[in-house]
Amino acid sequence: AQTKIQFINTNGDPPATISKYIYSHFAEHLGSGIYGGFYVGDTSRISNTNGVRNDIIAALKIMKIPSLRWPGGCFADTYHWKDGIGEKTGRPAIVNRWWGGSLEDNSFGTHDFLNLCELLDADPYMAGNIGSGTVQELADWVQYVSTDTKNPMSDLRRKNGREKPWKVRFWGVGNEAWGCGGNMTPEYYVNEYRKYATFMTDWTNSDKLFRVASGANVDDYHWTETLMKGIPKNMVEGVALHHYSFVEWSKKGSATNFTEQQYFKTMKTAWRMEELVTKHSAIMDKYDPGKKIALVVDEWGGWYDVEKGTNPGFLYQQNTIRDAMIAGVTLNIFNNHSDRVRMANLAQCINVLQAVILTNKEKMILTPTYHVMEMYNVHQDALRIPVSIQSEEYTLGTEKLPAVSASVSKDKTGVVHISLTNISAKNAQPVTIDLGDGKYRSVTGRILSSAKLQDHNSFTEPDKIKPNVFKGAALKNNQLNLSLPATSIVVLTLN
Ligand code: AHR
Repeated sequence: AQTKIQFINTNGDPPATISKYIYSHFAEHLGSGIYGGFYVGDTSRISNTNGVRNDIIAALKIMKIPSLRWPGGCFADTYHWKDGIGEKTGRPAIVNRWWGGSLEDNSFGTHDFLNLCELLDADPYMAGNIGSGTVQELADWVQYVSTDTKNPMSDLRRKNGREKPWKVRFWGVGNEAWGCGGNMTPEYYVNEYRKYATFMTDWTNSDKLFRVASGANVDDYHWTETLMKGIPKNMVEGVALHHYSFVEWSKKGSATNFTEQQYFKTMKTAWRMEELVTKHSAIMDKYDPGKKIALVVDEWGGWYDVEKGTNPGFLYQQNTIRDAMIAGVTLNIFNNHSDRVRMANLAQCINVLQAVILTNKEKMILTPTYHVMEMYNVHQDALRIPVSIQSEEYTLGTEKLPAVSASVSKDKTGVVHISLTNISAKNAQPVTIDLGDGKYRSVTGRILSSAKLQDHNSFTEPDKIKPNVFKGAALKNNQLNLSLPATSIVVLTLN
């Protein structure tokens, strides 16, 4: 049995660009995501720039992080940004109620975050507080960070040491308004959204803000429908969606010690993203056939029990090849829906949920998920080449899933990249790829795989899982033939 992939001729339709923002990340004030993760303070022994770890900055730049969402998540709707500016010593503290009840001393604030984004060469995506914050607070925040003219907010920024504004285009108008963001109904949220969004900019949004409405929880299609119907099209640039992968929400299980059955269930929830994106997009198409409004999947990733001995509210979990599979499948889905999905943020960047980096004091490790993000970065801002995929199945008992997923793009230099995942824990998959009309001379590749599903990188074995050269693809008569090992991710480069 063979998996068959075929490049599709678009018949002259301009191919959609795969927005680099699909590869975005998320850093919440949660556990050791910020404090003890990104931020160690400028008196730390760990090499840092204004308190932010230099090793993390370097690693994220290699991975090509395009954008970072902050300060939450649920934390965003408790966050009062004026608490986090000015002299660090005088800042008021608050209790981080959602995440372990820890004391938030506000030492990492707006300046720290936006300077970090500059160091990363990443666009900031800030989530405004509409749950417990005022319309005025959010309007002031936009002016504080973005205006160059003389006004009370830019004066305050200058007084705090920053002459020129940063450029902040992406703004979330609340987070999970259906839950921790205020337990609102969609009908109520629509009116709240309209009010907050009105005061963020002027009549014509001449600030070119990209405002993202707090979106549906998983398959709440009524939420998306209500937003699309109720928010004027000139007031919204993106609609969000959140979906996590797990074994069972009420019984998540260990991140590293799991059975094949639990692995299969996790893969099922990861594959569910295909259905969710398809159905939410279809609703958006009804109201916005020109696809002006983006679907922004600003939280996705694997969610398990926390590591033993860690604070349950800190969501610190290890990361195995199972997580690499979630990332590989999900990113292929986003790439293939890049006409509508134009931003997505993996939850979360450092030490929280499906992190790309884990830290332990001065040590830092890259997770398998980091390597997938780095391998797939070839798709950022490349032109999507549509493909049809007839995949072999990965079966467990009576259940089945497609074993292979793929996406293809052509970059600005004309080089074509194919990313492939085989989630089967049992079998290698022979794959044939029909390359259509393209003329290619050579193929090279990289592979990420491991002997066991539970394999992961640790502080004692940081490079157990890392990309290797893949020489298994043969190019002949405009066809590629290869065998994808079980639980592997391969990225091919065609010249
Ligand atoms: O990513 C962790 C939490 O999950 C976020 O704060 C919230 O938005 C979601 O429920």
